[in-house]
Amino acid sequence: MSNDALANLLSEDRVFPPSADFAAQANASSEMYDEAAADRLAFWAEQARYLTWEREFDEILDWSDAPFARWFSGGTLNVAYNCVDRHVENGFGTQVAIRFEGEPGDRRDITYAELKDEVCKAANALLELGVASGDRVAIYMPMIPEAIVAMLACARIGAAHSVVFAGFSSEALRSRIDDAQAVVVITADGQNRRGSAMPLKPAVDEAVSQTPTVTNVLVVRRTGSDVDWDDSRDVWWHDIVDRQSPDHTPEAFDAEHPLFILYTSGTTGKPKGILHTSGGYLTQAAFTHRNVFDLKPDDDIYWCTADIGWVTGHSYIVYGPLANRVTQVVYEGTPDTPGKDRWWDIVERHKVSIFYTAPTAIRTFMKWGDELPQSHDLSSLRLLGSVGEPINPEAWMWYRDVIGSGTCPIVDTWWQTETGAIMISPLPGVTACKPGSAMGPLPGIGMAVVDDNQVPVGNGGGGYLVLTEPWPSMLRGIWGDPERFKETYWSRFAGMYFAGDGAKLDNDGAIWLLGRVDDVMNVSGHRISTTEVESALVSHEAVAEAAVVGATDETTGQGIVAFVILRGGVPEETATGEQLVKDLRDHVATEIGPIAKPRQIMVVPELPKTRSGKIMRRLLRDVAEHRDMGDVTTLADPTVMNLIATGLDAGSDED
Ligand code: PRX
Repeated sequence: MSNDALANLLSEDRVFPPSADFAAQANASSEMYDEAAADRLAFWAEQARYLTWEREFDEILDWSDAPFARWFSGGTLNVAYNCVDRHVENGFGTQVAIRFEGEPGDRRDITYAELKDEVCKAANALLELGVASGDRVAIYMPMIPEAIVAMLACARIGAAHSVVFAGFSSEALRSRIDDAQAVVVITADGQNRRGSAMPLKPAVDEAVSQTPTVTNVLVVRRTGSDVDWDDSRDVWWHDIVDRQSPDHTPEAFDAEHPLFILYTSGTTGKPKGILHTSGGYLTQAAFTHRNVFDLKPDDDIYWCTADIGWVTGHSYIVYGPLANRVTQVVYEGTPDTPGKDRWWDIVERHKVSIFYTAPTAIRTFMKWGDELPQSHDLSSLRLLGSVGEPINPEAWMWYRDVIGSGTCPIVDTWWQTETGAIMISPLPGVTACKPGSAMGPLPGIGMAVVDDNQVPVGNGGGGYLVLTEPWPSMLRGIWGDPERFKETYWSRFAGMYFAGDGAKLDNDGAIWLLGRVDDVMNVSGHRISTTEVESALVSHEAVAEAAVVGATDETTGQGIVAFVILRGGVPEETATGEQLVKDLRDHVATEIGPIAKPRQIMVVPELPKTRSGKIMRRLLRDVAEHRDMGDVTTLADPTVMNLIATGLDAGSDED
């Protein structure tokens, strides 16, 4: 962000206090801050008691082996029971849990009683396939109810799921299956995307041909497309799940039993398997969902537009909402199918009252024009949420005015795959908000902005965002790599969790998130590491070296820009051809997934480097941001070369 843009942000003086009406009915209260400040652990224990434990915990937090935390030791619970069965037992079996809407327009309502039966049947099917507590199951699925059922079925039998976003490539899936040593993959024949059926199973077939740990692939029929079939390995969901008994007695697992692994990009090429466990994770996911979204389970219709392939889908579609007995919309497709008002049509028809999405979507809708939302009745909305990247004040105001009729509170929620649940956010009905600021840490969360020497910067200062106290839904480690866990998060600042984000405190102490300070890009709210894309590029036969940067993008937050040096021997006509650039972009899509495709690729004769050989990405980012190179990729022209060369001279002593 430029200094001017930052100065504008920090002089933001519009403040939106909660309305008296909203405050009067809010779940959250200002006393929560006092209570948590007086006794943080007692506060979290109180939140944990919203869950149903089979055995009460003996200790709230064991931090003796820091940074490896144990929350709610001695306690046992079943996460799926907490999300489904207990609501049925409490008399809410007929409440709709999921209002599913497929992209082609098919609809399906699933009550809590039906969800319980489905989850039990799927759990029994997994047991029949030999999955046991402690195993890992990979899930590579579209946004259909079976995806949620699959996750809960794993949780029910104590197998950790590893959901891989269905937009990732077979290679990305393979490496994640391999790292977690998954025994079963759950997938579908395909998914509906922009009016056509996109196959999913071929990517799984390719991945599992190289992953010997996988004994079975469980396949949901969604699109009806033809699929290749291996009788010794593949099983149709409708063949094995439908014939199971709907009875399954949930076993209570230790509070620290692994619940899931979710891979996320770090600063090196290899994604990290972030490990979350049961009791603490569910406590904080449910607490934040109840209070940040002000959920009233008897009245609200909730809709989080995320995909279950990301942590937002885990915590705010599956675990938090279902633990709180939500009624929620689940939508399979993209926002522009069949028209660009599809989301607003869904909000109107389902009378959505709580809506949670990402700034990149909000900015896209701003671009598409006010008429689309204005042609729908959005008056059911009463609270709006934002997640994934900083929301600029302009988008915040548009969201409030055009979507939220100028009255809905907006919660800008900062958190990460690693934090498991929301950490920084206003509390609706309590906090007066500034457009573009996530305001402050939630009750029970310790946060600071520190300088290079770990000194808190105080109001008006900027530095690194750190978390100063362990929290219940914190990651418990990186799957199979305890050293990397310590090194990545706990070594930069003694005794504090380093989030990787830059932040500023304004003069009133409100926090402004400024994006990543490491080599991680944020493209449409998705984390992609520069090194991951660089590795993908250099694995192409024509590329000798690659440097990747995230350049500011009006809609997606950041866009991926790649600079590549070709290998000797690549013929000149190829080296300057558009075909090569297209091939390279496709190659990245094959290696990682379409979301990692560079927006631009420039073929350059050299890259600016420090004397120690580090690529000067900052300089490349300047080049990428300050020149208008059009929407599509172009080959480098001499001016770009000059810029790089000038930078080389100017920055040659930067180390
Ligand atoms: O840079 C921050 C940004 O997204 C990163 C976490 O990405 P991921 O693990 O994929 O989780 C995204 C959904 C929780 C953070 O390090 N980020 C997330 N929320 C915000 C944000 N940046 C600014 N404001 C936010 N509200």
